[in-house]
Amino acid sequence: METIQATTYPIHFNEKAYSELAVLIEQNAYSSIFILVDDNTFECCYPRFIQNLETKTQIEVIQIDPGEVHKNIETCVGVWNVMTELGADRKSLLITLGGGVITDLGGFVASTFKRGIDFVNIPTTLLSIVDASVGGKTGIDLGVLKNQIGVFANPQMVLIDPEYLHTLSAREIRSGTAEIIKYGMTHDIYLFNEIKDNPEVNIIDLIHKSIAIKNEVVTEDPKEKGLRKVLNWGHTMGHGVESYFLENPNKEALTHGEAIAIGMVCEAFISAKTQGFPTKKLEEIKDAIIAIYGKVTIENSDIEHIMNLLKHDKKNEAGVVKFVLLKDYEDFVINAEASEQIIEESLNFYRQ
Ligand code: GLY
Repeated sequence: METIQATTYPIHFNEKAYSELAVLIEQNAYSSIFILVDDNTFECCYPRFIQNLETKTQIEVIQIDPGEVHKNIETCVGVWNVMTELGADRKSLLITLGGGVITDLGGFVASTFKRGIDFVNIPTTLLSIVDASVGGKTGIDLGVLKNQIGVFANPQMVLIDPEYLHTLSAREIRSGTAEIIKYGMTHDIYLFNEIKDNPEVNIIDLIHKSIAIKNEVVTEDPKEKGLRKVLNWGHTMGHGVESYFLENPNKEALTHGEAIAIGMVCEAFISAKTQGFPTKKLEEIKDAIIAIYGKVTIENSDIEHIMNLLKHDKKNEAGVVKFVLLKDYEDFVINAEASEQIIEESLNFYRQ
């Protein structure tokens, strides 16, 4: 599988990626290597990784508790302390081995330790493979506010090994699939059609195409001044639904992808109402999303709460809710607005 070249770093695939990592370590003569894992990736991914890594450089493993609740400054302080105690210096390398929490937090830890050391991302979930590990966003949460603290910092390389996907549940895979569907609707409808119509889908091909799209977008707009906002397709409504289900003790939390999938249905509806997005395609999106993710129950009484959460979305500007909307597949507008009534109707459209 062909390497994708990002602005300052390569994204390598499969076996070749491990030999490229060995070359990177050799060429940079790192003084030590720190591998950041959580309890799950230590058990499920680290054995494969260490077996494939050829280096004589000293290796230390730093293990943190899994989950978004640990994506905070306390965890960073813990990692910085361990690195300091173990003698990390400016020539140390940090390798992140895990999902989005590990790659985001690890990238932040590395890019702020002694004003910045090198890091390599090895994403192990489908979600982090097609999204978090590429594009240079690093960061942590501030209380309940997601990704409020962070810096843009690029890794030295990204290593994609689809073998790690075998450690995931079907639900986790479906969560990552929503981001692939997202790239499909905004940039290359082939991706959506493959997921929708082909049960024998070649996931590594879809991963490669998704990363190539993300890389193209972030290369043009690395700091999300404009174009990069397209990566938020489905995410305005999706984040509202996700936060509501997370905060409400009577609801079972949704995965990120499940929420984004609902968000894409709602935003397709808003697109149809305001941008002329074809109704036939709107129905196609709703049918496909419900076939893949099932129908999540949203009560009439939930709508008001979701609407309130939307008003606090961090993508809003001057208090106005902002959307990416579609005129058609592969034809989008950013910074779009919609009336409260249409936004509310979009949730009812999903519920019908
Ligand atoms: N996850 C969206 C972005 O990287 O911009």
